[in-house]
Amino acid sequence: MSSQFPQDFVWGTATAAYQIEGAVRLDGRGASVWDIFSHTPGKIKDGSHGDRACDHYHRFPEDLALMQDLGVNAYRFSVSWPRIQPEGKGRANKKGLGFYDRLIDQLLEMRIDPYVTLFHWDLPQALEDQGGWLNRDTAYRFAEYAHILADAFQDRVKAWITLNEPFVVLTLGYALGQHAPGRTLMLDAMPVAHHQLLGHGLAVQAIRETSSSPVGITNNLAPVIPAGDSDEDLQAASRMDDLHNRLFVDPILLGEYPRSLLAMLGEQAETFIRTEDLPIIGSKIDFLGVNYYYPDHVRASSTSPLGMEMVPMLDYKQTGFGWPIVPEGLTQLLLDLQERYSEKLPPIFITENGCSYPDIPDPAGKINDSKRIDFLEQHFEALAKAIDRGVDVRGYFCWSLLDNFEWAEGYTQRFGLVHVDFETFKRTPKASYYWLQGYLRSGKWRK
Ligand code: NOJ
Repeated sequence: MSSQFPQDFVWGTATAAYQIEGAVRLDGRGASVWDIFSHTPGKIKDGSHGDRACDHYHRFPEDLALMQDLGVNAYRFSVSWPRIQPEGKGRANKKGLGFYDRLIDQLLEMRIDPYVTLFHWDLPQALEDQGGWLNRDTAYRFAEYAHILADAFQDRVKAWITLNEPFVVLTLGYALGQHAPGRTLMLDAMPVAHHQLLGHGLAVQAIRETSSSPVGITNNLAPVIPAGDSDEDLQAASRMDDLHNRLFVDPILLGEYPRSLLAMLGEQAETFIRTEDLPIIGSKIDFLGVNYYYPDHVRASSTSPLGMEMVPMLDYKQTGFGWPIVPEGLTQLLLDLQERYSEKLPPIFITENGCSYPDIPDPAGKINDSKRIDFLEQHFEALAKAIDRGVDVRGYFCWSLLDNFEWAEGYTQRFGLVHVDFETFKRTPKASYYWLQGYLRSGKWRK
């Protein structure tokens, strides 16, 4: 593989609190929406929950050692809001902060830079009881929480990521109900978009009061490919692009919502969007985090509520999740962002990219996930191509370090470089782990 990256390129792995930590009732942690949702019968495919997950809360030294051995120089993890503020407001829980304090200390000792996500979906249930992200007040509570973290960790955190994939919280969490909190509000969920954006802007400001580390947001973005070339399909693709890609980027980088979305909302928009919110949302960010998995392949549909639907990309190989493997979509996405926002586009980090496969150990206990190696290799190449064409990408985080709790899929989708036995919690590095280790050690990736 010939792909090359800048000398100071950031290589990391990524995880999220609820997906790995477990220990959900320890050290004063409050309940999150995911505790309640996962314990609701029928919501999680294998009937599981994150009560123990990977038991990372107790085994983090082992997980950090695995990262050190892997040779990455960065680790993206999220802080569990209900560990810090069990009720979603008020004074910080010292024991909760203590856990992340130890984690950050050990990372720094290992020379692995902490990239900290503030909100990776585990909203305190106490806030959900008051409407969650439908309630404007949650944005202010989020800023208060951000302030606590920035004050506690200041510049020991290398970079702050306010929200993870607010689009998924909006759609799966509040519109369609497949994720916590399981609301099925369809278009009435739109205030969730605005309140998350407002919370993001307020958090950026709160962080800057005490930390000088860079601040950004992570969005899941996707190039949108029309399934046909009819006018209807092209229009459907453009609406999908507004909803999926522009909704959580335009207000931040351009200071405005996409017009088609405002038109769709009509007068309803004025009930939750205040003019004075937009400058807050547009607070300068230092980087844009991009999670890339696969493109949106879309056609017009008269039967679906938004007039469009996804079409499977059958010409491509698929991961264990049934997701098409389209590395060139990553190049395309990055070039599109560059063209769309030009000088307004801050540097980019790929904050997630990866794939799930069943990954069963062979009789000798080895996990030969050669398909994951191919996946990574192809996506590295696609990324290097975008960088060669001038896109300022500063780092890549592989999703994920460990097999973990994959939300509504439970433990059925394994994304890890390291296999986890969810009975014994034994960690076993997969072939892809050793491949990445060799790749990073070889230094051949350096320009
Ligand atoms: C995006 C989410 O941020 C992460 O939590 C999830 O596990 C991966 N995608 C894979 O679906």
